[in-house]
Amino acid sequence: MAKIEWNDDLVTGIEDVDRQHRILVDIYNDLDAAVCMGRGQKEMKDILDRLIAYTTEHFKFEEGLMAEGEYPGFQRHRIGHQQLLDKVRRFQDKLERGQERISKPVMKFLNFWLCNHIMHSDRDFGEFTRTRADQPAASV
Ligand SMILES: [Fe+2]
Repeated sequence: MAKIEWNDDLVTGIEDVDRQHRILVDIYNDLDAAVCMGRGQKEMKDILDRLIAYTTEHFKFEEGLMAEGEYPGFQRHRIGHQQLLDKVRRFQDKLERGQERISKPVMKFLNFWLCNHIMHSDRDFGEFTRTRADQPAASV
């Protein structure tokens, strides 16, 4: 359905970030498969919880790298992370109260957000990191 195939457009060039992104895509694909197979909401909710927990850790890691590297787009990037987490956590709460269901439109949203964020925002950071690495070290 909305499976994400890993491809070069998703590569940031930052090894640890790419490894974590692959894990995120794998968890997302597990959820997508569960939705396609019509699994129960409980099973799907467990996978979504896993996706949110891993995403939270991954964002912290990425933000740590950005702060450390004095990335100029850090604040804007962090707001993007925060907005997604706020949205998915609100959804998670509603799911727990039985007011929401994991459905194809929800998967479409996650698919779009994940791919779009990696392909643009995260790759911009990768580009910045590469440019930095190419510069000669400043003499003190
Ligand atoms: Fe990011």
